[in-house]
Amino acid sequence: MKNSTPDKKVNSSLRLFSLILFLCVAYSFTYGQQTGASASLKNFMDNRFGLFIHWGPVSLRGTEIGWSRDREVPKDDYDSLYKEFNPVLYDADAWVSLAKEAGMKYLTITTRHHDGFCIWPTKYTDYNISNTPYKKDILKPLSEACKKYGIKLCFYYSILDWHHPDYPIHSAYDTTLDPHANMGRYILFMKDQLRELITNYNPYMLWFDGQWEKPWTDEMGKELYNYVKGLKPDIITNNRLGKEMAATNNKKIDVLKMIGDYDTPEQVVGRLNMELPWESCFTLGQQWAWKPNDKISSLSNCLSILSKTAGSNGNLLLNVGPMPDGRIEMRQAKRLKEIGRWLEENGAAIYSTKGGPFPPTGSFATTRKGNKIYIHVLEPDLSTLSLPLIPERKINRAYTMSGERLSVTTGEESFTIKLSSEKHQLQYIVILELDGDAETIPIIQ
Ligand code: GLC
Repeated sequence: MKNSTPDKKVNSSLRLFSLILFLCVAYSFTYGQQTGASASLKNFMDNRFGLFIHWGPVSLRGTEIGWSRDREVPKDDYDSLYKEFNPVLYDADAWVSLAKEAGMKYLTITTRHHDGFCIWPTKYTDYNISNTPYKKDILKPLSEACKKYGIKLCFYYSILDWHHPDYPIHSAYDTTLDPHANMGRYILFMKDQLRELITNYNPYMLWFDGQWEKPWTDEMGKELYNYVKGLKPDIITNNRLGKEMAATNNKKIDVLKMIGDYDTPEQVVGRLNMELPWESCFTLGQQWAWKPNDKISSLSNCLSILSKTAGSNGNLLLNVGPMPDGRIEMRQAKRLKEIGRWLEENGAAIYSTKGGPFPPTGSFATTRKGNKIYIHVLEPDLSTLSLPLIPERKINRAYTMSGERLSVTTGEESFTIKLSSEKHQLQYIVILELDGDAETIPIIQ
């Protein structure tokens, strides 16, 4: 009896301590995901524009990465392509300086897509770059070039692997579960690879994908999220660790179900959202991997996507697929440089801004910073633009990015800007200078 009192005390303090610890962990886990309040996530969203790269031996065929396996390209044939993969003209410096010239701030490359091929000399499978005729690591020079140009290096990493014997599905077109596969072992393999990638190349962000198949569960996603955060606490991950995501149908997601730090609409501009961070990915052509004679998006289309994305408070990850010899096709490179030239003049309306306060339409998008609202005039021939009045703010001045003063007339419920009289080939920016902070204005519908 005598001895039980201090024991009880110890027990109850232990219980209290565990409860506090649990609450702290639970809070930081959901907080990080829900509000994106962490400094690294804010920094990530300030970047606004990144380069997506889908690449691998499949470029030898010019068909879609992962998805053409067992369809346009027979399985065995696809799985043997690495034996011919020899990108002798791969020049990491050229890729990264191109991203820099395009005004991009980060770069996300497929380290291992759904086909399972690894572009670095991983210790955990032979199906990797060192067993190609090229032999050399793709990621090491890329990480060095990224450091040189101040571009953040990020890794795409597929959850599913149709090539790996321990992943239960071996083809996109035959989803029979292999009884000899072993998800437990497969997850250990993934963890080994992710630890290797994080330790050897120190990526800024991880872009997971391929979590929609049956063998993967949200519980596994949460565990992997905690695992990578344990290895590198400030690493950012997208939300394709769990099933809840916007994807191609731009679904409005339940944030509480989301696993990861930000949402990932695909081939569509995400919804205007001032709370949840998101990044839309788009192909520059019609395919993620290189396709000969692919149709490339026009410059005005690319710029309009960029403006609407920033105007909806998200990031844009624009994809190129390098050729089998390692070069980025000239037409793709040219388009990226053109975007970069526009950004050189108009970047203040994109980087580190917030979206809104007006939701974007087909003719304009708005971003804001300090006491300025940037109106992205997407139809350069428009002569006037009328918008609802901005509550509790006065417009002091309106002018274009190149300094042309514009007149504004204010009515009962709206104001009208007489737009630029100059000839603009491309979308251009009008700046509204307010008498107060623009960033705290609620969304004006
Ligand atoms: C899809 C595709 C994949 C591609 C990704 C990029 O999820 O499955 O091939 O890499 O989109 O967003």
